[in-house]
Amino acid sequence: MKMPTRRLAVPSLLAIVAAAVAVPGVAPAAGPGPCDIYASAGTPCVAAHSTTRALFAAYNGNLYQVRRASDNTTRNIGVLAAGDYANAASQDSFCANTACVITIIYDQTSRHNDLTPAPPGGVGGQDAPVPADALPVTAGGHNVYGVLVSQRMGYRDNSTSGIATGSQPEGMYAVMSGTHFNSGCCFDYGNAETNNLDNGNGHMDAIYFGTLCWFSPCNGAGPWVMADLENGLFQSNTGGSQNAGYTGNRNPYVTATLKNNGTNFFAFKDGNAQSGGLATRFSGALPTFRPGYSPMQKEGAIILGIGGDNSNSAIGNFFEGAMTQGVPSDAAENAVHANIVSVGYGGPSPVAGGTLNPGSTLSLRATTACCTTRYIRHQNNNAVTSVISSGSSALDKADGSWIVRRGLANNSCVSFESRNFPGEFLRHQNFQLFRHPMDGTTLFRQDATFCPQAGRSGTGTTSFASLNFPTRFIRHFNNTLYIASNGGSNAFDSATSWAADVSWVVSSPWTP
Ligand code: AHR
Repeated sequence: MKMPTRRLAVPSLLAIVAAAVAVPGVAPAAGPGPCDIYASAGTPCVAAHSTTRALFAAYNGNLYQVRRASDNTTRNIGVLAAGDYANAASQDSFCANTACVITIIYDQTSRHNDLTPAPPGGVGGQDAPVPADALPVTAGGHNVYGVLVSQRMGYRDNSTSGIATGSQPEGMYAVMSGTHFNSGCCFDYGNAETNNLDNGNGHMDAIYFGTLCWFSPCNGAGPWVMADLENGLFQSNTGGSQNAGYTGNRNPYVTATLKNNGTNFFAFKDGNAQSGGLATRFSGALPTFRPGYSPMQKEGAIILGIGGDNSNSAIGNFFEGAMTQGVPSDAAENAVHANIVSVGYGGPSPVAGGTLNPGSTLSLRATTACCTTRYIRHQNNNAVTSVISSGSSALDKADGSWIVRRGLANNSCVSFESRNFPGEFLRHQNFQLFRHPMDGTTLFRQDATFCPQAGRSGTGTTSFASLNFPTRFIRHFNNTLYIASNGGSNAFDSATSWAADVSWVVSSPWTP
């Protein structure tokens, strides 16, 4: 049920700020949410998206919808109670022993600005939905899931209600992550074109987070919060940073805010979403060194995880975000940030390295007599084995380390994400193994899912059956990796030393 947010009794901003500054990790179930704070400041939310919690104290509807692979049915995931956290247990039971994707992120305002996988655009084809369980975290002490965007994934709503158009003012915030990013275009949340095309300067007004340095200078290594105003990621009215102290934000949870009055002003801030306050990174005039931004020409679509023209080579994490009517005050933004801090985003709990538990980082050592110092690593996108030792280069060690994820096509199996190429996974193609960017397709998910079994060569080892070719196991053959059967027409299916070649020692990671 959508709550008629505008008819709620609105407490004073002062009262809301006091309630928002709670102890991290023990957020009250139904305290004021970010959208209550914005409303009381006179800048109500016109879109509110989160897979982790209600953004209004009174919201008691659905947060998102998941679809499972086993039978293509869907389930809406709601909150535990009005104003509370996501009912992730409902997702877990629905998705047990299969894999789910997020098909809708519902708008919690009464405007139904729901986000669905984005259609093809000027750049990039149809976007895939994200895996529903790839980003387990805790919020308010509850297990919930964030939105983990890989390349060729993203969401959009081109037919919105109440979102700023033309030179109308607006504000927005998002909680993202400074540990999962890249320099692709463009991990955005905010206002974009309604036809999926780059319609020119000033046709977008969105938060960007990543390391794509569009205008020089960008200070430090990033990732930076910037304003995607179309044909540019702006750190100031002159494009590049005017703030030598802003070298990026690598906190695991990052609050980003952006506001734009549509005619001559924009400002953005960021902060550690787990503690402290917001820092203003720029506040001043809209760019005039190029035409089109002052005044703005906003179109009013909403995007998540992609650029305005559907550029979809970026990755990132998203937990919650909202867009407002009007430019929010600094006090409202500070109160929203304090509210986010009070949620106590965290986790998932640390997972011991060198195990097959999701979240663990490991290395996989070969056991065939020839090769007991060789480990599975990627090299030029191919999966091979290399000798890796304590004296190896940092690159070799990182290439030989993998993060265990819940199986992309079946969560009772596993997938292996590259330690140094986030968003890229070990997958087979024509029976050979590669490191490829996750593209969200069913085929990729299956090709990247492996089911651990007792090692074929004996105790202390593990073999990994391919999910979609269950009689084939990860095998090294002439130091190249395949999924191989025990005898067959391909050279790499040779029965000679098959059992040893498909048996691996799950080891501590060379790069934790
Ligand atoms: O402004 C940066 C990007 O440029 C936009 O997101 C996209 O539409 C264009 O390619």
